[in-house]
Amino acid sequence: MPVILAIESSCDETSAAVCRDGIILSNYTANQTVHERYGGVVPELASRAHLQSIVPVVDAALSSANCELYTVDAIAFTQSPGLIGALLVGSQFAKSLALALDKPLIAVHHMQAHVLANLIENPELQFPVLCLTVSGGHTQIVLAKSALEMELIGETIDDAAGEAFDKSAKLLGLPYPGGPLIDQYASKGDDSKFKFAEPQIDGLNFSFSGLKTSVLYFLQKQTKENQNFVDENLADLCASVQKTIVTILLKKLKKAALITDIRTVCIAGGVSANTGLRKAFLEMGKKQNWNTIIPSYEYCTDNAAMIAITAYHKYMDGQFADLSVSASAKASWQ
Ligand code: KG4
Ligand code: ZN
Repeated sequence: MPVILAIESSCDETSAAVCRDGIILSNYTANQTVHERYGGVVPELASRAHLQSIVPVVDAALSSANCELYTVDAIAFTQSPGLIGALLVGSQFAKSLALALDKPLIAVHHMQAHVLANLIENPELQFPVLCLTVSGGHTQIVLAKSALEMELIGETIDDAAGEAFDKSAKLLGLPYPGGPLIDQYASKGDDSKFKFAEPQIDGLNFSFSGLKTSVLYFLQKQTKENQNFVDENLADLCASVQKTIVTILLKKLKKAALITDIRTVCIAGGVSANTGLRKAFLEMGKKQNWNTIIPSYEYCTDNAAMIAITAYHKYMDGQFADLSVSASAKASWQ
């Protein structure tokens, strides 16, 4: 019955979670609002905010799990990928705790953890599983043969899906991060009102940089004729952008399921919180006869519960790190 304390600090959320025997007891996240006024995450500010939040966040996770630090069996942390300064705060904190408490250390790959977020509420999940992981930094199709054996079979060649949301939102005058705002406005809009370019990319890879350009040129043309074009059409613009992104994502996911003949399909990452994607994914799953799984919202965006669940599987498999392990901004898939 291992009790694991997990820490996530790869980008702009400081999060800590406690799990016992693969069951999440607490998951506490401090969001950094300091980046809003800059229109994107400022790495140095993220590191400083992690430094300020990490002790209270870990304390909150332990106390809401009714757990004392000395009763923890292992300390887990996000090793990669992410912003190096941000990762260093979490990794040094975890290593210090492991050293001081003389407990084993578990290093976790953030993208593997996003996939395994699906196990939190579905511990009986049968592998192999196909997962579309869509976040601010990544867009991937992952074939998970087991909890610890994963293969990357498709990814973006330029922008991530979250970036496509955030950059389109910026062009529409919305603050960062614009993804959730596009989602909100889209619920009141007509998604067939405007058409944006869909990329033609072979295989299972994605491309989103053309969409941003397509939105930019379209808005430039329209606002020349009517200065209030964006304000007057915001909901329809958001709905149309969202539909384009969702269509691009799900076309490739469907292709991946056909190629691999895998019927258990899940989504993960911050963009999997998107209402349009969740709805269209479930509809596609019904048509394709998939067993579809979506994590609850709190497990879609960055969180330490997903680090804890991954660490639990690594613990059971005896995969521990030693204190010389270092954080890494980029990391090979496995
Ligand atoms: O996984 P995540 O929290 O952090 C990274 O690892 O990147 O993902 C953050 C991304 C941002 O681009 C944000 O705009 C997007 O997820 N996002 C959404 C929604 N909620 C978060 N995009 C569209 N609709 C949402 N509801
Ligand atoms: Zn993430």
